Amino acid sequence: MTIVVTGGAGFIGSNFILDWLALSNEVVINVDKLTYAGNLENLQSLKDGDGHIFVLSDMGDFANISELLKAHRPRAVVNFAAESHVDRSIHGPAAFIETNVVGTFRFLEAVRFYWNNLPNAEKQAFRFLHVSTDEVYGTLTPSDHPFREDNRYEPNSPYSASKAASDHLVRAYHHTYGLPVLTTNCSNNYGPYHFPEKLIPLCIHNALAGKPLPIYGDGQQIRDWLYVKDHCSAIRRVLEAGQIGEAYNIGGWNEMANLEVVTILCSILDELSPRQDGVSYIEQISFVKDRPGHDRRYAIDATKIERELGWKPAETFNTGIRKTVQWYLDHQDWVENVTSGAYQNWVGKQYGA
Ligand SMILES: NC(=O)c1ccc[n+]([C@@H]2O[C@H](COP(=O)([O-])OP(=O)(O)OC[C@H]3O[C@@H](n4cnc5c(N)ncnc54)[C@H](O)[C@@H]3O)[C@@H](O)[C@H]2O)c1
Repeated sequence: MTIVVTGGAGFIGSNFILDWLALSNEVVINVDKLTYAGNLENLQSLKDGDGHIFVLSDMGDFANISELLKAHRPRAVVNFAAESHVDRSIHGPAAFIETNVVGTFRFLEAVRFYWNNLPNAEKQAFRFLHVSTDEVYGTLTPSDHPFREDNRYEPNSPYSASKAASDHLVRAYHHTYGLPVLTTNCSNNYGPYHFPEKLIPLCIHNALAGKPLPIYGDGQQIRDWLYVKDHCSAIRRVLEAGQIGEAYNIGGWNEMANLEVVTILCSILDELSPRQDGVSYIEQISFVKDRPGHDRRYAIDATKIERELGWKPAETFNTGIRKTVQWYLDHQDWVENVTSGAYQNWVGKQYGA
């Protein structure tokens, strides 16, 4: 048996592949275009024969994808590939439309043709799992109920709008063509192999490098945080038992303001890797101009996946964040390799460092 994963060299995709291969013998075909966010080093611990086959390709390359589907006959595809960084979508939305909307469309087309030609039993068993975000639902006020699956889509950034469009395409391919799809909408992830442009790895990296820890606006933007391995276990569960055509919200029941997240990070770093001058990393926090259209609050009501599929996160924020900080301390070589010149330039432009 085989599955195809797109975007498997990225943050969540690589964690998913590592966990998948640790738990099963089922081969994973990893289709990744290796954008700035794709890093095969994330999968370096895999050995020949572990069941990982890497294919360098755009998921929107219909001919390539059709060929590999025919050759490997997967029983499922899990679609992680995307442009995923909100700030980048503000500076350059075109890549987000190209990959998240047009790329997903072309990928769906290739999968639809493949699926249509499968013998009946394989056709019935096939699944297309689309990995999406809670950002498609827009923003919440402090008193709003957390997002449920039937919330209206009200995306506010080019990133979330492009993900919303991809979710709609996936839904339409089920309703129109009968493609057996599943969609997951997850909150903010954190954990190993997270590219250091996102809040948590950026702050760990900057703290250790003696640089400012940039916090947008007043730092009171609230997010729900989920340890990446919990996201991966939820995806496995939805793939295994999710109802075709349904969407599942995935979250950690961990609502927290950005400033609080960074303050906790600093106190863990103070304990595990204290500054030589004995001053707390908190002193490095630096407030920067807020980004345009910054959503104030996201929160996930993850009742449906718990009730229907029996999934719950294994980590609390306190346990997950401690593991994450320790991982970054133990993998400074990975961080060094990722923080290439191009990345440095981009962070400089973004935060006016
Ligand atoms: N990171 C989060 O907190 C979060 C939360 C909820 C949902 N998601 C969703 O999960 C998915 C994975 O997120 P991530 O944080 O791992 O992203 P990431 O940016 O770390 O990785 C994306 C991967 O996709 C690859 N890719 C990009 N365009 C491609 C294309 N056209 N064809 C093939 N590969 C391509 C990149 O090379 C990279 O390896 C995304 O769909 C994202 O919207 C992320």
